[in-house]
Amino acid sequence: MSRLIVVSNRTPGKGPAAGGLAVALRKTLAERDGFWFGWSGRLVDRPDSEAVFEDIEGIKVGKIDLTRDDHHAYYAGFSNSILWPSFHLRLDLATIEGHWYEGYRRVNAQFAQALLPHIAPDDVIWVHDYHMIPLASELRHLGINNRIGFYLHIPFPTVDALYAIPHHNELMRDLSRYDLIGMQANRDVSAFTEFADHQSPSTLSGSPLKSVDFSRTEVAAFPIGSDPEAFARLAVSPAATKMVRRMERALGDQALVLGVDRLDYSKGLPQRVEAYEKLLANNASLRRQVHLLQVAPPSRDTIKEYQETSDTLDAMVGRLMGRFAEPDWQPVTYVKRAYGQPSLAGLYRLARVGLVTPLRDGMNLVAHEYVASQDPHDPGVLVLSRFAGAAEIFEDALLVNPFDTDETAEALRLALNMPIEERRHRWERLMAGAHDHSVDRWAESYLSRLAPTGQNGQPAPVR
Ligand code: F6P
Repeated sequence: MSRLIVVSNRTPGKGPAAGGLAVALRKTLAERDGFWFGWSGRLVDRPDSEAVFEDIEGIKVGKIDLTRDDHHAYYAGFSNSILWPSFHLRLDLATIEGHWYEGYRRVNAQFAQALLPHIAPDDVIWVHDYHMIPLASELRHLGINNRIGFYLHIPFPTVDALYAIPHHNELMRDLSRYDLIGMQANRDVSAFTEFADHQSPSTLSGSPLKSVDFSRTEVAAFPIGSDPEAFARLAVSPAATKMVRRMERALGDQALVLGVDRLDYSKGLPQRVEAYEKLLANNASLRRQVHLLQVAPPSRDTIKEYQETSDTLDAMVGRLMGRFAEPDWQPVTYVKRAYGQPSLAGLYRLARVGLVTPLRDGMNLVAHEYVASQDPHDPGVLVLSRFAGAAEIFEDALLVNPFDTDETAEALRLALNMPIEERRHRWERLMAGAHDHSVDRWAESYLSRLAPTGQNGQPAPVR
């Protein structure tokens, strides 16, 4: 079996980006004697051109340092102030600074140079996410002809939003240097196909780019998932149960509505608070009967748009409290910090409603984890945005348009009043969806398409 090299911005043990992935790929990397490659988390004046390898939680990891300026242009700049908002259809929140693109390319070239000496002829390379779109181009430029796959964890934009991204044609050409592009959802594959069919006719400066040739590239949806069995076990573990007991004491008879999201404008948090406010305004009988817990660890907080989202939310939660809180009752608890998975699993299990309402989301693994953590005898209800990739899998959730806060408020009311038989019935189908789309199956189905093995573990002809 070919060796596997996984490349992503963050490496295992470094924050949320690689957390779930690391768990998913640890087994595969061990089986294939592979390694992970990414940024060390360190910013230095003069980065060493050689990667440093170490063992992290049982995974061999190669890392490189970046300069502060390059990292800013590549991560906070091009990746998260241009690509992220555009891919999430928030062009109003994009900031375009021309020089960020050079930094983005420089960092990708640096990754390619540092990775080059560690690539053997049969290795299969799996590149993750929008920070790394040019990596295959850079590697091909250095003479690497190995199978290289790309997986996009976020949604693919519509044609118009893509055209608004500076250098979109080069980026699409970069994508065409991969053998397999994996997307989260069918809607993303359709958006990509639409671009491939249209193609941008010109660029602003220089000669118009020729249209991009995608003939070597296969594109398909491989929806990512969680490890539902592990989450189900975690939800009844002593650490989770401790959190459940703590919350039960605090809540008394109140039904818990739970949101868990990075503090990101794509997650629809202001709309969520507004929907909850409408629920309380329209249903006086629910006051004192229900409690919203929103967990929102800060994310990318050097970026202005993230700070503004945080300020907006502070003001909205304050308004909600002022309007509905009583000396002895609070409608909402808003926690701006991260919790470990055992505590989250306990909270998911206790919550009568899992409120997952991003305005647009690649997949949304909170939806998967919420489903997996439920008590089969007394499961809660998932209220899910139809604009999350997860909506293609969890059709038995209460699907809502998160921009329509009346609709979300009504879905919340229905969820809180849903009879147990219907909750069980819906949950069984949701859980079947979580099983069918487990993270292990995701990795297996992607990798068997990227590097099919024939008899004797030899690579099989692809086309
Ligand atoms: O959803 C895309 C993603 O890059 C995830 O992989 C990650 O969990 C999340 O965004 C957080 O990103 P960052 O690395 O910017 O903190």
